[in-house]
Amino acid sequence: MTTRVLVTGGAGFIGANFVLRTLVTRPDVQLRVLDKLTYAANPETLSAVADRVELVQGDIADAELVDRLVADTDLVVHFAAESHNDNSLADPSAFVQTNLVGTYTLLEAVRRHRVRFHHISTDEVYGDLELDDPARFTEQTPYNPSSPYSSTKAGSDLLVRAWVRSFDIAATISNCSNNYGPYQHIEKFIPRQITNVLSGIRPKLYGDGRNVRDWIHVDDHNDAVWTIIDHGTIGETYLIGADGEVDNRTVVETILELLGRPADAFDFVTDRPGHDRRYAIDSTRLRDELGWRPNYLDFRAGLSATIDWYRGHTDWWQPGKAAVEAGYAATQQITG
Ligand code: NAD
Ligand code: TYD
Repeated sequence: MTTRVLVTGGAGFIGANFVLRTLVTRPDVQLRVLDKLTYAANPETLSAVADRVELVQGDIADAELVDRLVADTDLVVHFAAESHNDNSLADPSAFVQTNLVGTYTLLEAVRRHRVRFHHISTDEVYGDLELDDPARFTEQTPYNPSSPYSSTKAGSDLLVRAWVRSFDIAATISNCSNNYGPYQHIEKFIPRQITNVLSGIRPKLYGDGRNVRDWIHVDDHNDAVWTIIDHGTIGETYLIGADGEVDNRTVVETILELLGRPADAFDFVTDRPGHDRRYAIDSTRLRDELGWRPNYLDFRAGLSATIDWYRGHTDWWQPGKAAVEAGYAATQQITG
């Protein structure tokens, strides 16, 4: 039987990768995307599959549209969000509207139509860890978000939990660590630095460059999402991570080396206010209970493939590059 899946945010980085991968791995699934096509979306990403995936341009906070689409689906996979911390510090309003009001609007439609819901979230809801702390985040870690982005994601998770408990909706939640891979917007750390080097611009490291992120390839994230949809327990939360802790300076040095540049050809710039020091995921529950394993175990190899993708897809990212860099230059000064 065909499963009808509504993918919110399916023209953004992780959602589009989910769509492209699902077309290959799940011939039994019929995909429809609901995406507002904000600055973060690139409809080009889905153009090659336009005959197989319906793209509805619209807002997840549009109750009438959402009700109509949810009524006609079996499963909602909810990726849509305002997703960039730096933007949330400049202007939080769209984050509150999309991440909170948008998720609420979807939940109400799911409640009315009794549709299965999977909510995509982030490990940033847990706040941060010290560099020398052996601890990692687990499903039991208390929420302690730092930024307008992470706090609105935390709020959206709590809405989902409350709708499960109060209205008995069939939902699961996943909180994943930092993703990398093809089709990621060039405002984000890894694609920004790759496209900087490819454009003759020096990479830019915030603060002292020692902040740690726990990197996972976007395909590993999306495989975990399907594992949770297929085998997860309704009402439960699963952390997704691939043991990929690396500090930002090491990431930049690796990109420079892979592109044949000197390891010190980068700049330090003004730090991000409230910059989380370290994220680290313990994904034991997902591995032990649901049997998921990541396929990308070599970060350097994954990074190298990602560099190749950006090198081969200049048409996809070059038109927006100057505007993104101008935006950053307006607020960030070189410090070293
Ligand atoms: P992205 O910014 O690349 O894409 C977000 C998509 O949502 C865009 O296509 C945008 O047009 C769409 N969108 C925004 N507002 C909308 C609205 N009101 N209505 C409909 N569509 C709207 O983000 P991403 O990096 O692909 O992240 C996807 C999800 O994964 C988010 O929920 C994010 O919190 C979560 N997440 C991201 C990461 C990461 O490393 N990028 C890690 C963990 C979790
Ligand atoms: P980012 O991709 O914005 O993801 P997040 O804030 O969700 O972790 O940033 C990843 C890390 O890289 C974070 O520690 C901030 C840092 N960073 C830089 O050092 N330079 C940059 O140009 C950007 C965009 C981020």
